[in-house]
Amino acid sequence: MAEGRERLGSATEARRIAERASGWTVGDLTGHASDQVPERVLDFARRIIERRAAGEPLQYALGTWGFRTLDLLVDRRVLIPRPETEVVVEVALDELQAIVKERTDRVPVAVDLGTGSGAIALSLAVEAKRIEVWATDASADALAVARANLAGIGGRAAPRVSLAQGHWFDALPPHLRGSIDLIVSNPPYIGDDESLPGEVSDWEPASALRAGPTGLEDIEVIVSGAPGWLASAGALVVELAPHQAEAARAMALGAGFGEARVERDLAGRERVLVART
Ligand SMILES: C[S@@+](CC[C@H](N)C(=O)[O-])C[C@H]1O[C@@H](n2cnc3c(N)ncnc32)[C@H](O)[C@@H]1O
Repeated sequence: MAEGRERLGSATEARRIAERASGWTVGDLTGHASDQVPERVLDFARRIIERRAAGEPLQYALGTWGFRTLDLLVDRRVLIPRPETEVVVEVALDELQAIVKERTDRVPVAVDLGTGSGAIALSLAVEAKRIEVWATDASADALAVARANLAGIGGRAAPRVSLAQGHWFDALPPHLRGSIDLIVSNPPYIGDDESLPGEVSDWEPASALRAGPTGLEDIEVIVSGAPGWLASAGALVVELAPHQAEAARAMALGAGFGEARVERDLAGRERVLVART
């Protein structure tokens, strides 16, 4: 921890690295402050410190990151799961609850389009009591990470999750058409001309961030395609940038949704489009 603090100038990062390398919490570590640190733990910690010192995001250097109740494997093949996406899951679970109240005849089906690390899909599978989840991505690399994370969520939830590769709705089996209760997505929504901090643009996959000239291109594909895949009382929940809120709401109403609203994230910014059929 002392080496990390000195090299990185951050006590918080040093603590996280020490915890990751040792497998202990900072409380455990304090209780063993005078113990000899095993060589392999020290090597592992130093490798993480050097990667971080070279500018790699802490999450990739650690190789795991917390998302709601999960500890997800993350590397450069996937976007680092963000706190605002935890709110997207919260909103999606609320929508699911409302749908389930009205329907008890079958297990609700949810789809996470562009699953990346699996953050949204696996959280739904773990946190919803009864649910079948489809997690899709265009990137085979991203799906490999989601598959590894699926293996880590345990035997109760994992059998309820299916992974599928393909361009947005093309990834889904045709039998799901018209029978999905909840579609959730955190698609790429950065416009071509929008600048990003170097730590994001240099390290995270551009295909997970950039949508096209306006940034709304992927949101539009999802919003316009969703009504054809949702069941009669279904919901669509999509993460977006605050400046896209009004356009996305109008898009949803134009696509035939009966109601559409935008929920705020923890920082109070408009962040989550919720559209009901
Ligand atoms: C913003 S990331 C979200 C990842 C993850 N759901 C999360 O919230 O952390 C967008 C994801 O969409 C995927 N994606 C991009 N274009 C796609 C497409 N045309 N069809 C399906 N997935 C796509 C990317 O590979 C990436 O994993």
